[in-house]
Amino acid sequence: MTSTTPAPSLTAPHRTPRRRRAPVVLVLVLAGIGLALAGPTGLAARVVRAVGGAPAAQAVLDGPLAPCRADDILALHREPADWARTLLDPTFRLEPDDLPSDLVPVAEAGLRGGGSVRLLVIDDLRSLAAAAREDGVTLRVRSAFRSYDDQIRTFASLEALNGRDWAELSAARAGHSEHQLGTTLDFDGGNDWLAANAWRHGFVVSYPAARSPQFTCYKAEPWHVRHVGRGVARRVHESGVSLREWLWIHADEVP
Ligand code: DAL
Ligand code: ZN
Repeated sequence: MTSTTPAPSLTAPHRTPRRRRAPVVLVLVLAGIGLALAGPTGLAARVVRAVGGAPAAQAVLDGPLAPCRADDILALHREPADWARTLLDPTFRLEPDDLPSDLVPVAEAGLRGGGSVRLLVIDDLRSLAAAAREDGVTLRVRSAFRSYDDQIRTFASLEALNGRDWAELSAARAGHSEHQLGTTLDFDGGNDWLAANAWRHGFVVSYPAARSPQFTCYKAEPWHVRHVGRGVARRVHESGVSLREWLWIHADEVP
C-alpha cells in the first residue's frame, strides 16, 4: 500500500522579493556612503572593499574567526615592516621570497644555541634572556629564523615520522610558519617562565595550551615565542586569547 501523505518539503519557505532585496539595498547604500568619503574607515571601508573586489585575505578576515583550514591564501601583511601584524596560520601564507634582510645571530642577544633573528628583535631578546637568567632560568635557542626551504624540510621530516595529520598539527606547511618572519624562536627550557614573562619583553607564546589547537590551529607549543613589540605583547597577554585570534580583530591597530 502506498501512502498519499506528501513528503515534507526540504526547501526554505517562500520569501517575497521585497524581503530578499533588503540586504542588497543596505549594502549599496553603505557602499555609496563609503565611496562618498575621501578616506572611508570602519564599516564603510569594509563595504567598499567587499563591493570593489577585495583581496581574498581581507574578505576572509572581515568575517568572524575562521575554523582552522589548510589553504594557501597570501597573508594580508607580508612586508618586513609589518613584522608585528602578519597573521600566519594554515590558511594564510608568505611567498617563498618574503625574507627579512636584517638577520643577525641570536648570539648578539647573549643566547646560546644558534640561528638568527631580525636585528629589531635583539634588544628585547637580550632583555628576555637576562631576565630569565636573573630568575635562574637558562634559555637555549633550538630554532629561530627558518626559510621557506627550511620549513619544507621541517614539515617533511615530521610527516615522515608520524604522518600527514600529525605533521599538520605540529608544524606549519612551508610559507605558513612564523619562523619565516625572522621574529620567532623556539627555546629549550624555561616554558613556564616564558608563559609568565615573555610578554614583558615584547614576545608572545603563539600556541598556548589553553587556546590550542582549537583557536591556534596547532598543538600547544610552550617553547615557541614570537616578537610583536611590548605594546602589542601586553595587549595580547591581557586579552587572554591567542595571537591568531587577537590579530584577526586588531591587526589594523598594530603600530
Ligand atoms: N611549529 C610551528 C607551528 C611552525 O612550524 O611554525
Ligand atoms: Zn616554533
